[in-house]
Amino acid sequence: MLRPDALQGRTIVVTGGGTGLGRSMSEAFLRLGANVVITSRKMEVLEKTAAELEASTGGKVLAVACDIRKYLEVEQLVTAAVAHFGTVDSLVNNAAGNFISPTERLSSKAFETIIDIVLMGSVNCTLAFGKHWIDKKERDKTVLNIVTTYAWTGSGYVLPSACAKAGVLALTRSLAVEWAKYGMRHNAIAPGPFPTKGAWTRLMPGEMMERFDLKKRVPLKRLGEHHELTDLASYLISPFSSYINGEVVTIDGGEWLQGAGQFSGLEAVEPGMWDAIEQMVRGVRGS
Ligand code: HXC
Ligand code: NAP
Repeated sequence: MLRPDALQGRTIVVTGGGTGLGRSMSEAFLRLGANVVITSRKMEVLEKTAAELEASTGGKVLAVACDIRKYLEVEQLVTAAVAHFGTVDSLVNNAAGNFISPTERLSSKAFETIIDIVLMGSVNCTLAFGKHWIDKKERDKTVLNIVTTYAWTGSGYVLPSACAKAGVLALTRSLAVEWAKYGMRHNAIAPGPFPTKGAWTRLMPGEMMERFDLKKRVPLKRLGEHHELTDLASYLISPFSSYINGEVVTIDGGEWLQGAGQFSGLEAVEPGMWDAIEQMVRGVRGS
């Protein structure tokens, strides 16, 4: 979608960059000329991904182990990234934790765990990189937060994630205004269903995938393809989106709007029924 040098010479930090969508975004950024820092808790996963991405793209990848719940470790991440690449241009807050559970089965600790990873992890990274950029008077920086569509609708059975992602959306919009003066832009992407091992095993385990066919919920009747999301992410962190600030872009094939529209369920009406329905409706007069 973008020209091949769209991210040339820029350095992008991707949290949760060793797996799933974070890995796919990292690969796309490398193909557009960026250096990438991938970070998560599991160094062996990061090292394997870094080696594979360097081999497939010819780009430079730094793997840094960091638990984003711990601010000290995040500060060390900033130091390591800057020491290695000289500067950081973009932060992608992609790391997350989530699982399905009826809320009454959750302990307070379970709730706190998800809030810590998703909300506090994004806050910690944004604060540490943001303060670094402000301190160094570096401008033209972008932060991209990966949220979900239930950040604004809410959702049962994933309550901690819904609360945390709503917080990340508020973080995005708040800092888009407050920190614009420092030359930063803050945007978000709200993906619909994109197959990844991390999400699928925790949100649709075992036979649930067949029972709750996610494709049926999407007007386009298919799941997202990773390149569709990575194209959008590349655009939003690049200078080509320089006037987009504080936006959340939904990429879900129309899924959440289908759920929201009161009459969207009429999709289930057999086409042959519409003649009879129209006659009934037209037959209503003057009442
Ligand atoms: C109820 C559970 C639970 C479950 C854990 N807990 N799993 N409670 N049901 N299925 C409770 C534990 O009992 C414990 O509480 C507390 O949560 C912390 O659990 P730990 O296992 O100690 O936590 P930790 O090792 O930090 O692991 C965090 C994790 C894990 C979130 C539980 O799954 C993880 O590391 N996930 C990272 C990757 C991930 O989740 N990817 C999916 C992102 S998908 P007690 O009280 O017992 O101590 C996504 C998609 C969104 O976000 C939208 C899709 C459309
Ligand atoms: P994933 O592969 O499980 O990605 C989550 C990543 O977060 C992992 O790499 C994990 O690595 C990292 N992580 C978890 N806790 C961490 C911590 N404390 N510190 C640092 N890193 C941590 O799942 P995914 O599907 O690609 O999800 C990526 C993002 O997309 C998430 O924000 C998710 O909410 C969002 N999303 C996904 C979908 C979808 O359909 N897939 C839909 C909507 C939104 P470690 O375990 O090694 O730490």
